[in-house]
Amino acid sequence: MHPVIEWKNDKVIMIDQRALPLEEKFIEHSHYTEVAKSIKDMVIRGAPAIGVASAMGIALGILNAGENYENEFDNIIETITSTRPTAVNLFWAAERMKKVFAEHKHDSQLLKEKMVREAVTIDREDVEINKRIGANGQALLKSGQRVLTHCNAGALATAGYGTALGVIRAAVAEGKKIEVVADETRPYLQGARLTVWELQQDNIPVKLITDNMAGHLMSKGLIDAVVVGADRIANNGDAANKIGTYSVAILADYHKIPFYVAAPVSTIDFSISSGEEISIEERDKEEVTNFMNQRTARPETEVYNPAFDVTPHRLIKTIITEKKVLYPDFKKEIASLKE
Ligand code: MRU
Repeated sequence: MHPVIEWKNDKVIMIDQRALPLEEKFIEHSHYTEVAKSIKDMVIRGAPAIGVASAMGIALGILNAGENYENEFDNIIETITSTRPTAVNLFWAAERMKKVFAEHKHDSQLLKEKMVREAVTIDREDVEINKRIGANGQALLKSGQRVLTHCNAGALATAGYGTALGVIRAAVAEGKKIEVVADETRPYLQGARLTVWELQQDNIPVKLITDNMAGHLMSKGLIDAVVVGADRIANNGDAANKIGTYSVAILADYHKIPFYVAAPVSTIDFSISSGEEISIEERDKEEVTNFMNQRTARPETEVYNPAFDVTPHRLIKTIITEKKVLYPDFKKEIASLKE
């Protein structure tokens, strides 16, 4: 698969995820405002991937800022970090870039090199982190299992390999026979458009369902485990992820099916004690009143369109990170990651 995001000749190239799976198009970004727009418009999405985009956008901003770069920096940070509120990786990557800026801001040439290097490092590290998440998490899956996933927490949502799909990829690489059941993930269809597409590329068996079918499949014994990604995890283990994840977690709990969250440590927001503090993005009403640009409700219809929900920690069996697999008590386990 072509990289989801790439730094090339002082430009940022992204695969346009809005066009998948029908078309593989790439968008070239020469200015940080273009990167910000692409994050906001979902050209790139998925918590770790927008972390990389955040870093590359900030590096691009400094590269093109001219002599006034010190004054421009706050603007660049504000523009990039005001794109999407929920995935903490966006802010985490900006913090890393801020540190490099503070260290080298007095030498403009060196600063440019260091900012680009940091952004490219964040990108490379992410692939390695995902492989470690995969290696840690695959042990939880057994050959012959059917694994439900929600949204896309795959290669397309990261710098490569994926978190939840990384766990599945690693299990398959171990020779285990896994069938993935992909929730379509209304309203934005990340499951149908992206998860199915990328698993098909790797020849991993996948069946697509609409979101309202999960309970039925579980009741018939057709789902053995659930693995999802996360956009922000609180200190107590509460995990924000794509809207609909919470419903899947409740269904899994009722049917006594293990519910796993796979995410890098950078998705843990150590500054918040519970999921209540997570800001949930509200998106355009047209995502609900339309389906694939086709109107399905009258345009004046009022809607709710929260893009994420929070799964309470007590519904989560383990949180799979690159450092280790965390078991309840998550509060203690998460605190131990800081040591
Ligand atoms: O709105 P999106 O597509 O950015 O939402 C993505 C998700 O909810 C993913 O599950 C999450 O970011 C984890 S990606 C490894």
